[in-house]
Amino acid sequence: MVKICCIGAGYVGGPTMAVIAYKCPDIEVAVVDISVPRISAWNSDQLPIYEPGLDDVVKHCRCKNLFFSTDVEKHVFEADIVFVSVNTPTKTRGLGAGKAADLTYWESAARMIADVSKSDKIVVEKSTVPVKTAEAIEKILTHNSKGINYQILSNPEFLAEGTAIQDLFNPDRVLIGGRETPEGYKAVKALKDVYSHWVPEDRILTTNLWSAELSKLAANAFLAQRISSVNAMSALCEATGADVSQVAYAVGTDSRIGPKFLNASVGFGGSCFQKDILNLVYICECNGLPEVAEYWKQVIKINDYQKSRFVNRIVSSMFNTVANKKVAILGFAFKKDTGDTRETPAIDVCQGLLGDKAQLSIYDPQPMSPTTKKKVHCVWDAYEATKDAHAVCILTEWDEFKKLDFQRIYDNMQKPAFVFDGRNVVDANKLREIGFIVYSIGKPLDAWLKDLPAVA
Ligand code: NAD
Ligand code: UDX
Repeated sequence: MVKICCIGAGYVGGPTMAVIAYKCPDIEVAVVDISVPRISAWNSDQLPIYEPGLDDVVKHCRCKNLFFSTDVEKHVFEADIVFVSVNTPTKTRGLGAGKAADLTYWESAARMIADVSKSDKIVVEKSTVPVKTAEAIEKILTHNSKGINYQILSNPEFLAEGTAIQDLFNPDRVLIGGRETPEGYKAVKALKDVYSHWVPEDRILTTNLWSAELSKLAANAFLAQRISSVNAMSALCEATGADVSQVAYAVGTDSRIGPKFLNASVGFGGSCFQKDILNLVYICECNGLPEVAEYWKQVIKINDYQKSRFVNRIVSSMFNTVANKKVAILGFAFKKDTGDTRETPAIDVCQGLLGDKAQLSIYDPQPMSPTTKKKVHCVWDAYEATKDAHAVCILTEWDEFKKLDFQRIYDNMQKPAFVFDGRNVVDANKLREIGFIVYSIGKPLDAWLKDLPAVA
């Protein structure tokens, strides 16, 4: 039986390995982590992450061919294939701080593999890493190899949170990069054989190591760039009376452009886009390509602009101050169907409003960590959050927000009652009929907002 071990039981390691175990009953999969609470949660009924469909997949194979453990060394020692799916956040200090990827966790995982291994291993980069990381990892492993052969593969993960199981069951592609040597090809084939259990042959792409590593950064940069492009258009729409949904539809029906990822929003969030673009910018700078670095940096600048534009719009609409006014925040996660709040645009919007001394009442359908901030209350109900509020800000596109009883909300709010829809999920015209003053991203402004000075 082939044995797989995955180091890192997070948003990627957990779901990805659960799906491999589910689809490959002949493979034994161990997911290991240094975090005891995380592993305990994976072994309990309350999984550490919320992801539609994940519970069923985990329950189906846990303790059969899927194991979660903190005994990292034992499982690495036993494995034929070791995936490394540890976090690779942006460096916060030292060389490249604020841009470069922090590979501390990666390096310590690699050193541990070198320490405990007694047999040949295929080591798979699952984490998103800077291009050429495989070379560094190879050096660490081979300099400590004790005669063991290692093959490093790059197999970046393309799942999106909220649809992880669906993405893993039916991926657009699986990408495997390896060395172009007989041993490299053999390792690529071994990993290909795992995915071939359920992924059609023509969707498994094989490339050299550097192309695979760079393709992941490139894919995220392209996706984020689409959002920044449509968000930049949204500002122009508001200034001209065009409607960004109509523009996005008209643009997206061009088959060369395509309709996906053109939803204007308060800004993109999540643990990947910003981090990976910053990483790309840093790599460009290090390779003497300042123009290319500047080009990609602009994607982040527009995202920051979109978030601050949203806050400015709220404050200027509400008589230029939100001091001591209750503002209801509906949705805190960075997108629907996840409990993940890493880099969520809601953090920047809330900080902006708190900077203007607003009182925030936050509701998200997923449980949130408690806060000690004086002017912030987290509540368990959208009606509770909006009661006596001056304004409602929708920051995540949860489906349940579309079904709220807005007449009831309006009746219990201070007047004039404002709705700032950062995700364009509610029917603005219906809300206007009720009596709300509504701001939607990139839509023609209603009379109230039009009369105000322009917001930048
Ligand atoms: P995460 O923080 O949820 O999980 C990483 C886990 O690794 C943590 O539980 C941590 O305790 C563990 N870990 C760190 N060092 C370890 C070590 N030495 N030994 C054992 N365990 C260790 O991160 P994530 O969101 O799963 O992301 C992992 C990687 O995948 C990142 O590089 C990320 O960029 C990439 N990625 C993430 C997504 C996503 O949607 N979250 C999608 C594609 C790729
Ligand atoms: C992203 C990539 O999509 C995925 O392939 C990669 O593996 C990890 O990073 P994720 O961050 O989980 O996935 O979610 P995604 O669906 O890409 O959304 C990212 C952010 O962009 C969210 O805040 C979302 O609300 C926002 N978004 C997305 C928009 O504002 N408009 C859109 O049209 C699409």
